[in-house]
Amino acid sequence: MLERLNVLEKEALKTLKTTSDSDALAEWQKRYFGKKGALTTLLRSVGDLPAEDRPAFGKAANQVKQRLETAYEAHARDLRQAEVERSLERDRLDVTLPGRPIGPGHLHITTQTLREYFAIFAEMGFQVYEAPDVETDVMNFGMLNMPPHHPARDMWDTFYIDDDVILRTHTSPGQIRVMRERYPEPIRVVLPGKCYRYEQITARSEHQFYQLEGLAVGHAITMTYLIGTLTEFARRLYGPDRRLRIRSSYFPFTEPSIEADMDCILCAGAGCRMCKYSGWLEIAGAGMVHPVVLRNGGYDPEEWGGFAFGMGVERPAIVKYGIDDIRLFYSNDLRFLRQF
Ligand code: PHE
Repeated sequence: MLERLNVLEKEALKTLKTTSDSDALAEWQKRYFGKKGALTTLLRSVGDLPAEDRPAFGKAANQVKQRLETAYEAHARDLRQAEVERSLERDRLDVTLPGRPIGPGHLHITTQTLREYFAIFAEMGFQVYEAPDVETDVMNFGMLNMPPHHPARDMWDTFYIDDDVILRTHTSPGQIRVMRERYPEPIRVVLPGKCYRYEQITARSEHQFYQLEGLAVGHAITMTYLIGTLTEFARRLYGPDRRLRIRSSYFPFTEPSIEADMDCILCAGAGCRMCKYSGWLEIAGAGMVHPVVLRNGGYDPEEWGGFAFGMGVERPAIVKYGIDDIRLFYSNDLRFLRQF
């Protein structure tokens, strides 16, 4: 029996050395230490020995068991170490390589345009006021002199969230918010923001776009101030030679209402592709704040007057840079965005 024990130990140690991966190692362990393993079987046969030989055999067997276990642990450790070294070799990393630079981002063309506008209006004493994108039907229409079923609502195709809550179709509801907040102060603000209209998206029209609203409320405000402000804006943005043309128009929240055009920055009125041979570029819808709107904002129209205008933000950039598809503004294509 002791002889068999010795043979088994030698053989086990020899085969252990030939195991070269964890599968083979597990196989080896099962072969000697498993339920039906060689060592397990041998240990179990101690009962077949005469009683006086049992202690010596038991002792020897336990020592063999311990030596094999130690050898097993050591070999397993070596295999793991070898695997680590192999993987380090395989996935070698050159830590001396210079890092890849992360390019700094820059402002979106719309933001750049808006900031240009803010700067010009700031010089004329206008503060920036932000109003929410999600509005109520009442603020977007009702307070602006368009009660339910007013036919002028047709001018704005609207995204309804529920019967009362909508996405603003223009920045004009912000007029009511500023007035209610500032009363009884005079007001000079511009209100930037995204507007939403339930429209087919094409190269020429988006269902989301920016507007910049302007509002001035005071005691002696006349149409002259409105035209002067818009003219000054056009001249500071596009040069001192710009001329403005005023057409009469209609908005329920201004009376009288106008539309302002500027002579084309490319042909100065002669007619070209940019202005579609009209000689003029549209810059704003505007007018004198309607008495009903002043009252809804908390200002007594007997004492106060005001002007308001709303201008597009993408359109001038489209004209200036000859952009042929308005969808580019919202498609996040870096090849487009990086040009500005
Ligand atoms: N809110 C109008 C529009 O979206 C523009 C406008 C603003 C007109 C302020 C007059 C005064 O078309």
